[in-house]
Amino acid sequence: MLGAVTLTLTGCATAEPPAGSPSDHATADPSSSSSSSTSSTSSSSTSFSPPVMSSPASPSSEPEPDLDHTDPASIHVLVNKQHPLEPADYAPEDLSVPDVPSQRTGLELRQEAAGAAEELFAAAAADGVDLSLVSAYRSYGYQQGTYAGWVEKYGQAEADRISARPGYSEHQTGLAMDVGAADGTCALEQCFGETPEGAWVAEHAAEHGWIIRYPDGAEDTTGYSPEPWHLRYLGTQEAADVVRSGGVLETAWGLGAAPGY
Ligand code: DAL
Ligand code: ZN
Repeated sequence: MLGAVTLTLTGCATAEPPAGSPSDHATADPSSSSSSSTSSTSSSSTSFSPPVMSSPASPSSEPEPDLDHTDPASIHVLVNKQHPLEPADYAPEDLSVPDVPSQRTGLELRQEAAGAAEELFAAAAADGVDLSLVSAYRSYGYQQGTYAGWVEKYGQAEADRISARPGYSEHQTGLAMDVGAADGTCALEQCFGETPEGAWVAEHAAEHGWIIRYPDGAEDTTGYSPEPWHLRYLGTQEAADVVRSGGVLETAWGLGAAPGY
């Protein structure tokens, strides 16, 4: 279980960049976030409930040994505090802008992830759930600014619970995105998990190839406090396998916990 550390954050409760920058290639300034106060606690009521897959994409719940977890261009690359991107300044070559409602123009994902994001958003809308893209690809340089801002604001120990150091962020792969409710309720806050939008995402993300990467109760393994808005693209088969194995990527892939650097 997680420790009893409580973060009371003014602004968004995470390491994500504030809305308003023209591009994720720009530098983030956490202090400019306009979100209201919130707290991220180990006993958050945002519980992670692995969705029941209506049509399992794979009969196996075993990790697949042939997946490439080290190539930064692999859809199955593992990025955490023990597995940095190599090279550290890796940048994807197939970034594109998904056609989804966004809080900022020009947010990019890798092509396959962008298509899967469009499917996820369309499926949500068909269920009457309106999502908005909050953050997507972030370059090494962008993450440098984001992380430094959180360190300045909260100190390194707390910043490390909510923000990846440059070269260690899934956002740099172009395979991760932060989603929110279109009306902005609980944007990048723990309470997003309790909104209808957050609940929909938790239940349906894997059907479209995404997992909630930092589930509640897994900080000792993932290295990050819960982020019910941060989705990682894996493809439908692998996302289903990860969900079936408990929803924590490090555990599903048997590659060890990454609580710290
Ligand atoms: N907030 C996640 C961990 C990141 O900074 O990539
Ligand atoms: Zn994120």
